[in-house]
Amino acid sequence: MVKSKRRRGDPSADLGRARRVANLAELSASIAHEVSNPLTAVLASSNACERWLTADPPNIERALIAVKRITRAANTACEVVNHIRVLSRRPGETREPAAVGDLVAEARDLMAEEASRYFVRLDLDVEPDLPPVAVDRIQIRQVLVNLIRNGLEAMEFVARDRTLKIAVERCGDTLQIAISDCGVGLEHPDKIFQPFFSTKFQGMGMGLAICRTIADAHAGRLFAKQNDPHGTTFVFVLPLGASSTAPHVAAA
Ligand SMILES: Nc1ncnc2c1ncn2[C@@H]1O[C@H](COP(=O)(O)OP(=O)(O)O)[C@@H](O)[C@H]1O
Ligand SMILES: [Mg+2]
Repeated sequence: MVKSKRRRGDPSADLGRARRVANLAELSASIAHEVSNPLTAVLASSNACERWLTADPPNIERALIAVKRITRAANTACEVVNHIRVLSRRPGETREPAAVGDLVAEARDLMAEEASRYFVRLDLDVEPDLPPVAVDRIQIRQVLVNLIRNGLEAMEFVARDRTLKIAVERCGDTLQIAISDCGVGLEHPDKIFQPFFSTKFQGMGMGLAICRTIADAHAGRLFAKQNDPHGTTFVFVLPLGASSTAPHVAAA
């Protein structure tokens, strides 16, 4: 173990340590909370399901509603666990040259059903002959899925024609993925990348913080800009060629 060169009792060292412990404790508490909520829902709905099935006569219709609640809650719990798992991947083992256009098309396909539930058209525009980029495919897919999902959610209550545009193009020595919605726009642009910041009723507030951590780990960038007249564009910039030396993403 590497010993700190600072003397015991050094106030700045103590403060740094206290902050780290506080962050870790805070993060653990939030994760425990985010997992325990859906697990409580799973338990409550499975009890209900058992009651409906053992009733005389059994009520299959109500039992099915309970099963659907169980599936939804279990999916939420899995999502939290996936967030954490994706962040702890090691770059040396997981980076390989990938066609970013294909990754974006994969993410679009993954989200197609969810998009149709939001009555949103996903519109993909990939510049031809883009060079491959050394990336962690799973992490990049996580970024794309998070950004697409946020775009869908931002358009949930707008009466406009709902299209989410995803464009991939080369810009100098970078690739840029722009995900553009015509939704409600950003209420708090200065806070959106903070962990656990959410304006949604059941928002976890982890999505953009994770996206930015992954962008940083690829020596890339992620930023948002307001669209004129409506909505938001998130731009994910990946350097061409420099990403294999990027540091390991730490979960905390
Ligand atoms: N496309 C978007 N349009 C408008 N606001 C957005 C968009 N994406 C993110 N935001 C804002 O940023 C916040 C944080 O997003 P995120 O970290 O993904 O957490 P969550 O989606 O769980 O709220 C959201 O609650 C929302 O206020
Ligand atoms: Mg989100």
